[in-house]
Amino acid sequence: MKEKIHSKFLSQFGEGGVFYASAGRINLIGEHTDYNGGYVFPGAIDKGIMAEIKPNGTEKVRLYSLDYDASVIFGLEEADKPAEAWARYIFGVCRETIKRGGKVAGFDAVFAGDVPLGAGLSSSAALESCFAFAINDLNHNGLDLFELARIGQSTEHNYCGVKCGIMDQFASCFGKKGQLIRLNCKTLEHQYFPFNPEGYKLVLLDTCVKHELASSAYNYRRQSCERAAAAIKQNHPEVEFLSDSKRVWLDEVRDKITEEDFIRAEYVIGEVQRVLDVCDALERGDYETVGEMMYQTHFGLSRLYEVSCPELDFLAKLARKMEVTGSRVMGGGFGGCTINLVKDELYEGFVRKAAEEFKAEFGHELKVYDVVISDGARKL
Ligand code: GLA
Repeated sequence: MKEKIHSKFLSQFGEGGVFYASAGRINLIGEHTDYNGGYVFPGAIDKGIMAEIKPNGTEKVRLYSLDYDASVIFGLEEADKPAEAWARYIFGVCRETIKRGGKVAGFDAVFAGDVPLGAGLSSSAALESCFAFAINDLNHNGLDLFELARIGQSTEHNYCGVKCGIMDQFASCFGKKGQLIRLNCKTLEHQYFPFNPEGYKLVLLDTCVKHELASSAYNYRRQSCERAAAAIKQNHPEVEFLSDSKRVWLDEVRDKITEEDFIRAEYVIGEVQRVLDVCDALERGDYETVGEMMYQTHFGLSRLYEVSCPELDFLAKLARKMEVTGSRVMGGGFGGCTINLVKDELYEGFVRKAAEEFKAEFGHELKVYDVVISDGARKL
């Protein structure tokens, strides 16, 4: 990928620049908890974005996307927002850097990526953190990684219409090879956990299904959680986020909120606890408990939070039938991947059978990605 980027850079812009890279992410457990101030447990992966960048001495940004085979030029004022969705991620990162007092000199960039789009692996966070890191470095802005992660998150909020939490951008900025990160999304306190489950593999099965309305449905889920938290706060003022609430406090407001808001909140409060249980189990090397929690998360995401789809439910059910240790929908949902914790000896049979049965049921192929936990944003 590096050579392709470089030869395009030379032909588009002349003399070469500096290379930066960043990563997509997986999440072992803790889904839709981040914007509720809860825990998540992600790690960066060996699929990401790579960019070659060079200041161009103007006030304009000139971009070339190898994957879209398209170029865009924009200025750095708010009114210069580009029409192309892919370019808006980078424009947003420039604007959010400026809003935080950072300098953004005009630059040329060519970039490419290998994070499958719409698979729930956060290709957008990879793009944001690659450029946030590069711009910070090239302009000597001195923003720390926390601020770079927030720049990516604010880009989603203010330029891409998704009111996401901090998980994806945090994992993409802070990721380390071989380590998962347990992150408290309220305080941003975090702890690295070496993840090398001997005798097991982590594999993603991509349904290749992507639902168009995913971002509005996502924002809608977030509003449900905020309404439930506000109702609980009336009785318990210390509840700032839903993750601060005990289950019994939710029960107290059952008739003050809608049934839908109640079941969304019920899922979130259970999920926050599951992350902690999984971390404890991991420290004991108890992968059976980790896997059981994954199935519980799938059930919650499917039946209570309602962000699954028939293809994902089919794969999780098949995993259970084949005695796979753990399986669940990963990321925002509404399509994308299941993440599976599989014993070495079951791995091949499971992947083969899942591919066959999925094709027979839905008429199209699934894709298989082995997970390698890798480094996040960096200069190459
Ligand atoms: C998406 C969002 C994240 C997080 C997950 C669900 O990936 O970008 O902030 O909310 O969904 O856990």
